[in-house]
Amino acid sequence: MKYKSQQVAYWFFALSMLLLALQIIYGFIMGFAHMGYDGLHNFIPFNTARAVHTNLLVVWLLSGFMGAAYYIIPEEAEQELVSVKLAYVQLVSLAVVGVVAIVGYHFNYWEGRKFLEIPRPLDYLVVVNVLLFLGLILATLFKGKKRTTTSLVLSMGLLFAALLYLPGMIWFDNQTMDSFFRWWVVHLWVEGVWELIMGGILAFLLIKITGVDREVIEKWLYVIVGLTFISGILGTGHHYYYIGTPRIWLMIGGVFSALEPLAFLGMALFAVAMYRKGEKKHPNKVALNWTLGTAIMSFVGAGLLGVAHTIPQVNLYTHGTLVTAMHGHLAFWGAYAMINLAIISYTLPNLTGRKLYDTGNGALAFWLSNIGMLGMTVAFGVAGVAQVYMERIMGVEFGIVQQEIQVHFAILIACATMFTAGICIYMYEFVKYGRPSEEAMLNS
Ligand code: HEM
Ligand code: HEM
Ligand SMILES: [Fe+2]
Repeated sequence: MKYKSQQVAYWFFALSMLLLALQIIYGFIMGFAHMGYDGLHNFIPFNTARAVHTNLLVVWLLSGFMGAAYYIIPEEAEQELVSVKLAYVQLVSLAVVGVVAIVGYHFNYWEGRKFLEIPRPLDYLVVVNVLLFLGLILATLFKGKKRTTTSLVLSMGLLFAALLYLPGMIWFDNQTMDSFFRWWVVHLWVEGVWELIMGGILAFLLIKITGVDREVIEKWLYVIVGLTFISGILGTGHHYYYIGTPRIWLMIGGVFSALEPLAFLGMALFAVAMYRKGEKKHPNKVALNWTLGTAIMSFVGAGLLGVAHTIPQVNLYTHGTLVTAMHGHLAFWGAYAMINLAIISYTLPNLTGRKLYDTGNGALAFWLSNIGMLGMTVAFGVAGVAQVYMERIMGVEFGIVQQEIQVHFAILIACATMFTAGICIYMYEFVKYGRPSEEAMLNS
């Protein structure tokens, strides 16, 4: 750590860890409900658990991205954050808005729009919070000595993500129009601008860990940004097949979204190539595992499992089934959860001044959580394919099919337990590192 204000990042990461733990609890509530054990139904019905699970996911990922920006931007710009006090105000207000929204869901204070359940009045608070965050980051970047490609790509990703929140706030009385613009947020986030954020963090980590020249790494970054935009923007069409939009979207969505895996493949090849080219001397192997892991797992979860149901002829059958949940889990995990765990693993020793990455626990956390998540993905996939055949092809009634596939959720829960064991070890290490310290400034 070279700049004292980078310490702010630690508290954003701590908030992320807390929300991830809560997210997992709601995942188990749903997993058991799918198995037929829905004892909490009167207090936390499935729809509430689902909204809480997915919204906690989004908030912990965003909190992690913000922490990453507070760490990376000062270092890249060679400039202390313009205001540490305001960064803490932003952290607390983010946590407060998140908690109010999540508590509200338990009392039916929500909008039934998947991923955008936050009621509109709270959206305005989100906007104020994000404006404050962006103000701090951009002011630091422009006051600083340097504006590197890495820091610009990361900042552009964050800025575009904020702008793309707005289409989801427009009010429509028409269901098709509402769905149409909901995807501008959900799809253009995960298959567009979040990829820039991921690319920026990945480039930063590769520069630090592999020791390869910045020029080489940043050249690749341009290629990835280009591929993302060429495929991802019109790829939005893979959500417009059957929501009441013109038929032309079947063609546009099918063709362009089938190209999307190229961006993720580019990222995977890029990371592995830089690792092979580099000196392999950096001692923090835990951070290296997560960095290479995210590049590879995002290609599998987003690229391969995305393309598996992106063609209209397939999506006609799989839309909105557990096949979607299969892809949703490995894509979010591989791309955005793992990149967050990578930057946290890299920064913790620098923030705290304690170098605890040699214990073996870090590798155990990595393998248990990844193998557990792969197992969960397979369980969702098998349940999903069975669901598609019975419900969509044989015409068996929804509720009966759900009973038939209960058995697959026993496997899901077993794998989720392994996944959770890995995450618990990761969190144990996080706590063991302790708080940021002044001595960390001297060590670096
Ligand atoms: C990291 C990137 C990605 C993430 C985090 C992600 C996550 C998700 C999630 C959570 C959904 C469900 C959304 C909802 O119903 O509200 C979804 C749907 C979908 N995704 Fe992705 N995805 C990613 C990349 C991709 C890619 C690259 C493709 C195609 C090549 C793809 C194809 C699809 C399709 C076709 C659906 C619609 C499924 C349905 O009709 O039910 N995704 N994705
Ligand atoms: C112990 C771990 C977890 C369990 C047991 C679990 C279980 C579940 C279940 C049962 C659903 C509802 C599926 C349905 O609609 O019927 C769900 C939804 C979802 N979960 Fe998890 N989950 C876990 C962890 C995670 C993690 C770590 C992530 C992200 C990295 C995640 C991302 C999602 C997403 C994106 C959805 C919505 C999928 C869709 O749109 O179809 N979950 N989860
Ligand atoms: Fe999409």
